[in-house]
Parts: sequence; structure tokens; C-alpha cells
Amino acid sequence: MALSGKVTVVGAGFYGSTTALRLAQYNIFKEVVLTDIVEGKPEGLALDINQSRSIEGFETLVGGATTTAEGGGYEATANSDVVVITAGLPRKPGMSRMDLIEVNAKIVRGVAENVAKHSPNAVVIVVSNPLDEMTALTQLATGFAKNKVMGQAGMLDTARFTNFVASKLNVPVSSVKTLTLGSHGETMVPVPSRCTVDGKPLSTLLSQAEIDELVDLTRNGGAQIVALLKTGSAYYAPSAAAARMAKAVYEDSKEVMPVCAWVDGEYGISGVYLGVEAEIGKNGINKVVATDLTPSELESLKVAAEAVRAKQADVKNL
Ligand code: NAI
Ligand code: 2OP
Repeated sequence: MALSGKVTVVGAGFYGSTTALRLAQYNIFKEVVLTDIVEGKPEGLALDINQSRSIEGFETLVGGATTTAEGGGYEATANSDVVVITAGLPRKPGMSRMDLIEVNAKIVRGVAENVAKHSPNAVVIVVSNPLDEMTALTQLATGFAKNKVMGQAGMLDTARFTNFVASKLNVPVSSVKTLTLGSHGETMVPVPSRCTVDGKPLSTLLSQAEIDELVDLTRNGGAQIVALLKTGSAYYAPSAAAARMAKAVYEDSKEVMPVCAWVDGEYGISGVYLGVEAEIGKNGINKVVATDLTPSELESLKVAAEAVRAKQADVKNL
């Protein structure tokens, strides 16, 4: 199949470089562009990925471009179909994602403005933390329609939940279905009522106490890895999630995925970027897909919405 399309990944740290590699290995895009403000880093990583092409068997070319805060170097990203924003600091042990808000807001605002200028028709996928707030800020700074900006968190948190369930029951991950909604933070809402193993409800296989333990592991999934790594945060599962979203956008796949999307009435919640299930296509979010929740899960989702709404209002001024 002929390669087509262009994806830019902004930020060539652990998350950005692994995302660029995954996107290139799909072997569907004509061009993947990786950028960073550290001179030479994106060019070096791009060259390294390209040199793996003959071994791994993909033809996508990765380009590297050093950029400046003033917008220098962004010409290399021009007219991207999809842009993934990974620029920003990761947290250190003991830090919450929210501790990053001021420093990352400055970075993400500048990046978003440059992305809008050079790729006015792109769909933007944000991953920088704190995720829900950086997604809202990106929409403001780009001025893009709300459906064209989304955040990556739910795919990752759901994949973590799935992995914890599969490990606990010693079953293949492919037999497990889970779901995580809400924020990518304190008010994350793993949804046990939507979890099944080979179609059987999780509640028929595990006690409530065991399910609660898996929910807690999922909520703390990112912090657990930060504590083990001691410097930096997770990137293999996060990059798998972001790359898969970019692919769904480019292929106009209409897959339903848990993502951070603008919610406008679903679940009785309006006017906030929040983790929900949504149908993804070439215009970004086609529609939010509301699912049945228990009364307590719905209540938790509403609590999450109010928590992120307050913080998303603050980012306007950062
Ligand atoms: P990292 O420190 O390895 O890389 C960040 C990169 O961003 C660095 O190379 C840095 O030079 C670059 N950068 C900073 N300012 C920039 C700018 N203005 N333009 C272009 N590049 C710029 O961090 P890592 O592990 O790649 O994480 C990136 C972000 O993703 C962090 O904020 C982290 O918290 C977040 N994250 C989000 C997850 C999610 O599920 N949403 C999961 C994991 C990480
Ligand atoms: C994660 O969940 C830190 O947001 C990052 O791994």
C-alpha cells in the first residue's frame, strides 16, 4: 500500500521518540516529523529510527527538526495531518501531575500556537501533563474546533487496568475488557461495571475487595512507574496509546476509544475536557459515546468533571 500522510510529534523525549518509532513502524505514513528544542536531539533520533527501517521492514521516513520557542524550525512540520504534543516536563517521584501545570502550560501554549500556524488543518493529540488541563489549553491556544483537539490518557489508564486484571487472573490480556474514564489524575474513574473476562463480568470472578485493589493499582499506575524509575515517567504504554489514536485519526477508523474529549451534555456534564469514550475519525472526535454506568460510577465522573473544570478555567491565565 502506498504510504501517505504526515504526523508530527513535538518533543523528542522518551514519550515523543517512542511515539515516533511506533508511528513509523506502522508503515502507513509517508512522513513522521520529530521535533525538540534541544539542538540535534530530534535529528539524531530520526536518523537512528531510519537506520532501523531495513531491519524492521518499514519505509516511513522520520525527519528530525530542532525548533525554538519563537517558532523557528516549525516549517518542517508544515501541513501535518496529525500532531502529537509531548513537549513538557515529566514528574519526579513524589510529584503529582498537577505540580507540572505552570511550567508545562508555558511550553504547551507556545507549541500549540506554532502548530496552529503551520498545520491549521491538523488534528492535535495532547499528552503533556497535567493532561486534562493541557488539552483544554491547547484548544484555546490553537483556536481549533473542540473536536479537533483531544488528549491521551484513557487509552493508557484502560490498558493498565486491563494488564492488572489479566495478571491477577493469569489470563491473556486479549480476553479482558476494561474501561477507565474521568481525569488523568486524582479523579480517575476506573469503571469495574464495564469490565469483563471472556465476556464474564469481573464481579463474578473477583471479590469486591480484589476489584478495589485493582482499581487502586490503576489509579496509581503512573506513580508506581515514576517511583520505580526515579527519574522520568512511563513511555512504552503511553506511546502505544498516543500512536494508536493518531493512526485511528489518519485512517478515519471510527473506533471508539477512551480519550480526553470535549463533553457537551453527555452524562449530564457540559463544557469541559474529560476522559470519556469517543468515536475517532479524520476530523478528530466524531462523537462522545456515553456508556451505562452504575450510580456511584456516574457520581465519580461528575466529581471528576467539576475537579478538572476548575483547573481548566485556571489554565487560561497561565
Ligand atoms: P522527557 O523529559 O523525556 O521529554 C520531554 C521533551 O520535551 C524533552 O526532550 C524536552 O527538551 C522537550 N521540550 C521541552 N520544551 C519543548 C518545546 N517548547 N518544544 C519542543 N520540545 C520541548 O519527558 P517524557 O517522558 O517524554 O514526557 C513528556 C510529557 O508527557 C510529560 O509532561 C509527561 O508528564 C507526559 N506524560 C503523559 C502521559 C499521559 O498519559 N498523558 C503518560 C506519560 C507521560
Ligand atoms: C503516566 O500516567 C505520568 O501521566 C504519566 O504514566
